[in-house]
Amino acid sequence: MDPKGQVSTHGIGAPAGHEISAASPAVLPGEGRSGLPKTVVAPLPVKAQPAQPRRRIIAVGGGKGGIGKSLITSSLGISLARRGQSVVVIDADLGGANLHTALGVSTPKGTLADFIHHRVESIEEVIVETGIPKLGLVSGAYDFLTASNLKYFQKTRILNRISKIDADFILLDIGAGISLNVVDFFLLAEVGLLVVVPEPSSIEGAYRFLKMSFYRHLWSGLKGTSARSVIEHAMDQKNKYGIRTPFDLLETVDKMDPKVGQILKQKAMTFRPRLLVNQTRYPEDERLGLSMAAVCRKHLGVDIDCLGSVQYDDGVWRAHRKRTPFVVVSPDSPTARSIDQAAGRLLSLP
Ligand SMILES: Nc1ncnc2c1ncn2[C@@H]1O[C@H](COP(=O)(O)OP(=O)(O)OP(=O)(O)O)[C@@H](O)[C@H]1O
Ligand SMILES: [Mg+2]
Repeated sequence: MDPKGQVSTHGIGAPAGHEISAASPAVLPGEGRSGLPKTVVAPLPVKAQPAQPRRRIIAVGGGKGGIGKSLITSSLGISLARRGQSVVVIDADLGGANLHTALGVSTPKGTLADFIHHRVESIEEVIVETGIPKLGLVSGAYDFLTASNLKYFQKTRILNRISKIDADFILLDIGAGISLNVVDFFLLAEVGLLVVVPEPSSIEGAYRFLKMSFYRHLWSGLKGTSARSVIEHAMDQKNKYGIRTPFDLLETVDKMDPKVGQILKQKAMTFRPRLLVNQTRYPEDERLGLSMAAVCRKHLGVDIDCLGSVQYDDGVWRAHRKRTPFVVVSPDSPTARSIDQAAGRLLSLP
């Protein structure tokens, strides 16, 4: 922070152990020689900076559309900014960008697509102010080119560059579905947060999403081994190996090569998605997070933490219609409070 209390242009490098390895050059076009950004979000007043600021990238996904991913991303961003964190929210929903609407920001000229296709020199050039102190926005892409599948190295390059943005928190709205674009952004972020609503189609979508991302997570740890092709087959439910569950997969690979089986088991232990239940209406809805965590432990062998539940509130769509963030118009509503609690939990994650 400079003496005027503004967010510093240069300063925090990505914390040790949180760099994302990229097949692309470390320094991208438009960066300074040091690889640090040339520009930042317009100067914003800072209340409190932690002694050792560190960046945390959170990807917000969900197996299904229309469940509140953009609402949750924007609201968590506002909560974290109000708690004194510098935050940039990024619309990485390559097929249906609308995060700016959730924040009440008119369609910005520069978007993430401009960065992906090198039309701007640095990602900082497309960060715009949101009207909320300490909260910046990178708006989403609207072209078909960007919506097509990006290569894995392109995604690691994007995430690697995003991880260098000078902010305490970077929240990515990764959009709906289980395409590789969505799943890879979920996995490449430091925290993957899955939104689910208490409806059968959303719950099924969330399980599908978790299974797909778990397999992809295992796949990413097995470069250069024949086990990779087993995982690729396992992603097809009717595969020739008869693999139906992650347990079957681990067993099959273990039989093929116990050493690789061991690597796979260790990789499996590093899969730790978080869950947030949105649009709860009844007391039993509040228990969905815990019961989903229990099912994941039993059937996928995966631990997931539930960050809480967020109540349904009619005021949300009313605020949406007026293009005003709900947590700004109703900060004391149970819905806004529970989102703020989830933001507090994100802050205290180890
Ligand atoms: N807790 C809530 N209470 C009431 N309405 C909600 C709540 N959460 C989301 N909504 C409403 O649900 C709709 C979808 O929300 P949102 O756009 O955030 O979902 P999304 O998952 O990002 O959708 P998409 O997949 O299309 O991007 C919006 O009309 C929003 O106002
Ligand atoms: Mg959305």
